[in-house]
Amino acid sequence: MFIIMKVGIITVSDRASAGEYEDEGGPALRAACAERGWEVVAEAVIPDDLERIQTSIRSFSAQGCGLILTTGGTGITERDVTPEAIRGIMRVEIPGFGEAMRMQSLAITPNAILSRNLAAVVDTSLVVALPGKPTGAVECLSFVEGAIDHTVKLCMNKPTSC
Ligand code: MTE
Repeated sequence: MFIIMKVGIITVSDRASAGEYEDEGGPALRAACAERGWEVVAEAVIPDDLERIQTSIRSFSAQGCGLILTTGGTGITERDVTPEAIRGIMRVEIPGFGEAMRMQSLAITPNAILSRNLAAVVDTSLVVALPGKPTGAVECLSFVEGAIDHTVKLCMNKPTSC
């Protein structure tokens, strides 16, 4: 069954949300989605704030985004809380996504070990947490994209075949 992928993109960054620099992660992911024929229906640039991240994810899920991509806040500084925010509202985590992203990213940069990349089911959406560096976010998306269609259908209780 063919369904157009509806995507929400959330840039999590104190400085981009304050206008201190231009958000580049969101546009990079928007372009990556367009290349894949996915429709971006919601976008937000928000600070590294646990409740704001949770509210944005839930709102995008309620708007029908089967896939929600976050970029930023996966590292180890005190402000990096994206994994904690997602884990606070998820039904289940899907560890293979984080494992695949880190494993394949390590072939590109040793610093990939710092990203606490993850994917989880929140309400009826697949949430994938990508690193903040725009090239890293797009790279990580490409490492897991093969499983996204099937996973999103499962999240939305839509018919799918393995
Ligand atoms: N993964 C890939 N594929 N490419 C990258 O450039 N950067 C790393 C890592 N993962 C990177 C990557 C770096 S330098 C950091 S600090 C962590 O992601 C966390 O980034 P974040 O806190 O901006 O999410």
